[in-house]
Amino acid sequence: MTVDPYGDERLVELYDEDNSAGADHEYFLKLADGAKKVVDFGCGTGLLTRAFAQPGRVVIGVDPSATMLGYARRQPGAEAVTWIDGDADAVAPAGDADLVVSSGNTMMHISTGDLPWVLEKLAAALKAGGVLSFETRNPAARAWEQWGPDATYGERDTPIGHLKEWMEVTEVDNGRVVFDAHNVFEDGVDTVLTTTLYFRTAGELRTQLEKAGFGKIDLYAGWHEQPLADDSRLFVVRATKAG
Ligand SMILES: C[S@@+](CC[C@H](N)C(=O)[O-])C[C@H]1O[C@@H](n2cnc3c(N)ncnc32)[C@H](O)[C@@H]1O
Repeated sequence: MTVDPYGDERLVELYDEDNSAGADHEYFLKLADGAKKVVDFGCGTGLLTRAFAQPGRVVIGVDPSATMLGYARRQPGAEAVTWIDGDADAVAPAGDADLVVSSGNTMMHISTGDLPWVLEKLAAALKAGGVLSFETRNPAARAWEQWGPDATYGERDTPIGHLKEWMEVTEVDNGRVVFDAHNVFEDGVDTVLTTTLYFRTAGELRTQLEKAGFGKIDLYAGWHEQPLADDSRLFVVRATKAG
């Protein structure tokens, strides 16, 4: 079962403001140059998904969060995208996509047990030579150590009122990190969204991608193809389906 940590309408309304288009979007959009079919896996609010849309290109956005996808469907330009409620099981194994992307660390939501079949499903959506690309955080950089209440506490005025917010990590176990995101609007109610993320090493990523049928696997330390270092914060993954 997929638990929806994005189930609060007010927070989904703020999501795009907090996660605006940046170098990540530029990178994924450039990868789509010449693509006739693009699948955005875990598309969320669809900000990037809608940017892929252009005449002659099929764009599909898939996400299991009804709240996220509901928001995506209401945005200007949403009609240019086919939106699908669901997880990787809902991605058609059509073998004709040029590109599958998964932005915003979505692949970190996939559990260790699910990763093999999820990658196989994404591979099955692609044509031979098609590309899967996503980013994921490097466990060696231990980002979760910065996610305590003191370091993350903030207050701000939003279009839907004053918000106090902070994070608290509740479990760390061999790359599996569970944290609570606390959100208190003016009504004083603490809306707690619990998320589990899976941090994977470069070696683990390569092994799983190879098993799923990807041939050439490139990992970079950022959106401009920076070479990996031991303490790279991010892995930007680009895997090509074997022919
Ligand atoms: C941080 S958001 C990223 C959304 C979007 N890709 C972006 O870049 O803004 C993570 C997304 O992953 C989705 N997600 C969580 N579990 C998933 C799963 N098992 N399969 C596909 N998507 C999932 C969530 O619903 C959420 O929309």
